[in-house]
Amino acid sequence: MSHLQRLPHVEPPSDRRVAVRVTNDALRQVRAGHPWLFDQSITSLGHDGAAGDLAVVFDQKRRFAAIGLLDPDSPIRVRILHAGAPRAIDDDFWIDRIGAALDRRGSLVDDPATTAYRCIHGENDGLPGLVVDRYADTAVVKIYTAAWLPHLPGVLDALVPLTGVDRVVLRGSRAVQGPRRAFAHPVALLGDLPDHPIGFAETGLQFEADVVHGQKTGHFLDQRENRALVGGLAGGGSVLDVFCCTGGFSVHAAAGGATEVHSVDLSQPALDTAKENMRRNSERVAAAAHRTTCGDAFDVLTSLARRGERYDVVVIDPPSFASRADQVGRALSGYRRLTELGLAVVRPGGMLVQSSCSSRVDEASFHTSIREAASESGHTLAEWRRTAHAIDHPVGFPEGAYLKTLFAQVDP
Ligand SMILES: C[S@@+](CC[C@H](N)C(=O)[O-])C[C@H]1O[C@@H](n2cnc3c(N)ncnc32)[C@H](O)[C@@H]1O
Repeated sequence: MSHLQRLPHVEPPSDRRVAVRVTNDALRQVRAGHPWLFDQSITSLGHDGAAGDLAVVFDQKRRFAAIGLLDPDSPIRVRILHAGAPRAIDDDFWIDRIGAALDRRGSLVDDPATTAYRCIHGENDGLPGLVVDRYADTAVVKIYTAAWLPHLPGVLDALVPLTGVDRVVLRGSRAVQGPRRAFAHPVALLGDLPDHPIGFAETGLQFEADVVHGQKTGHFLDQRENRALVGGLAGGGSVLDVFCCTGGFSVHAAAGGATEVHSVDLSQPALDTAKENMRRNSERVAAAAHRTTCGDAFDVLTSLARRGERYDVVVIDPPSFASRADQVGRALSGYRRLTELGLAVVRPGGMLVQSSCSSRVDEASFHTSIREAASESGHTLAEWRRTAHAIDHPVGFPEGAYLKTLFAQVDP
């Protein structure tokens, strides 16, 4: 069965390209490498194409400027695959793009201690709206536009031999709008849809991911390096892991020699996986007492502070607080509140580790919000490290720089 036969209602890509004219400003941005063309910057479309049709952007002199994927139902009307000299979007193109993405990951792709990583990071790897995470021999695909659907066979024909995976799962996506909405549920594009979690290694520790039902693709791969840093800080201390999800920070802390690890999340299935992830490393985490609390992080932090509980390391890694520009102010208030609540449960001399994954919130504003919240609540922070993206989450355009983390010693 071809990959496409597993996708009901999806036709092969049309041979007919859609000619697109855009504003001068949009043309400049596309030529400078920006991957998105919004609907309001399009001045004419040759014909009404379908999602996934190839759209060719022409300049004022009718010269080829770029080519991308059309999505008539998305405000991002065209996602640019290539700008510059004319280029065909064919098997060689997918092989080149995916091969380059894997090369960018350097030694991570052959590291037996880490068998899960992001192979394709959308826009940042020149494949806008397409994410592929690898968990051992399973690849998990997430698409943020229906425009990818007709091109998945070409992508998989390149991806599978280049990575050697033997299973490919396409996760459903609410972002896929329009008539091709049959993808709210996961589909196996190669091999079976697993009815069990997939085991993998992360910097020498064992984990599992529910690649069918888990959040995102099953595990937050972007925090791998920060988790290893927390593991290095945790020895002999107590660690509070707030917004722990499947327990990445918790497991690293316990394996790093923490005496006590407390994992907090709103999702009971995520906490169940966190417990299982601890169990998978039982020999290395035996010295740590592990407990979990299912609840709202703001409430749990408030009640921990009220009870006088204190920790040597407090990790705060919330979900994105701003999906739109008008939510940035509210997001920054949320970060400030979390800083205050976190500082109330860190022992003097302990470490606060706070992250933001809101791409709308810039790095400077995030760090300022933490610093202001600390000083308003009477604490001093000594910054130890500011970290950003791991090698498998390259930043290819300004909006791609979403992850920011501060490590700071509290009241040193
Ligand atoms: C960015 S993920 C955290 C990733 C995690 N730290 C890791 O390393 O895998 C955000 C987590 O916050 C949880 N969450 C969302 N809202 C919450 C809330 N109000 N209180 C507690 N947890 C919440 C989600 O269930 C999700 O697991």
